[in-house]
Amino acid sequence: MNNTAVDPDSTTAPETVAGVDKSNARVQEMFRQIAPRYDAMNHVLSMNVDRYWRRRAVRRLNLEPNLPVLDTCTGTGDLALAIAKAAPAGVDVVGSDFCNAMLEIARDKRVSLPSERRDVDFIEADSQALPFSDDHFQCVTVAFGLRNVADTDMGLREMVRVCRPGGQVLILEFSRPTMIGLKQFYNFYFKHILPRIGQLFARNDKSAYEYLPESVGQFPDGQALADRMVFAGLADVSFTPLTFGVATLYVGLKPEAAETASHPEKTDAEGGGC
Ligand SMILES: C[S@@+](CC[C@H](N)C(=O)[O-])C[C@H]1O[C@@H](n2cnc3c(N)ncnc32)[C@H](O)[C@@H]1O
Repeated sequence: MNNTAVDPDSTTAPETVAGVDKSNARVQEMFRQIAPRYDAMNHVLSMNVDRYWRRRAVRRLNLEPNLPVLDTCTGTGDLALAIAKAAPAGVDVVGSDFCNAMLEIARDKRVSLPSERRDVDFIEADSQALPFSDDHFQCVTVAFGLRNVADTDMGLREMVRVCRPGGQVLILEFSRPTMIGLKQFYNFYFKHILPRIGQLFARNDKSAYEYLPESVGQFPDGQALADRMVFAGLADVSFTPLTFGVATLYVGLKPEAAETASHPEKTDAEGGGC
């Protein structure tokens, strides 16, 4: 076990990140344009590893019967649908996103679930102002979405607010591998190859695939994002690099009222497994 811990008091308020336009209007329009090709693009650009990452995310959830789950920035719904498939009876799954074109595709994909599991709601909502009451969901998740939310800390705080005390907040997000050789390959792939392949799919929206490396480059990963989760009010935050650190899975617990936040921990890094 390779655990590292930091002093939660050392966490800092978010800095403003310059250079990448993450305004709601820009992000919404970008996903509206790429929605019809989003799934195909995702699977090709990640060489299908994104499916494995989402499976890993679902396995980290402690799903209990009869309590609802929310997947924010659900997009075309893959994580929400995977949760619905794995969940015990009586778990209502809700997917939220502010891009209706993405949600339309998510709704159509419900037919892929067994009939008794199709009761997944996809609703239009900004992750910075979720239309749910406090302490409502047993788990609140986000996959490859938080990086796109204009105000990261507001998005995180909203996830924590709607999560029940004792419940889990889970984030799956790209991260930057640190292994020598892989790091250089990754930078080259992200900056030069991925935007070109992406352009073939996105056709008229070249900016969508310039945006991806830019947004990953400026987004906190590893310990820095774990610190932001603590800053948002989560406890027992841990993170697990997946596929040599190309993506990372972060999980935190919403403390019961009397508890205070504790130290983020890095769990065993993985070599691959996919
Ligand atoms: C890269 S996609 C990820 C979709 C999905 N979670 C997945 O794993 O494929 C990011 C999604 O976040 C949504 N999004 C970005 N900012 C948002 C916000 N402020 N509120 C709601 N959805 C947002 C976009 O509309 C888009 O569907």
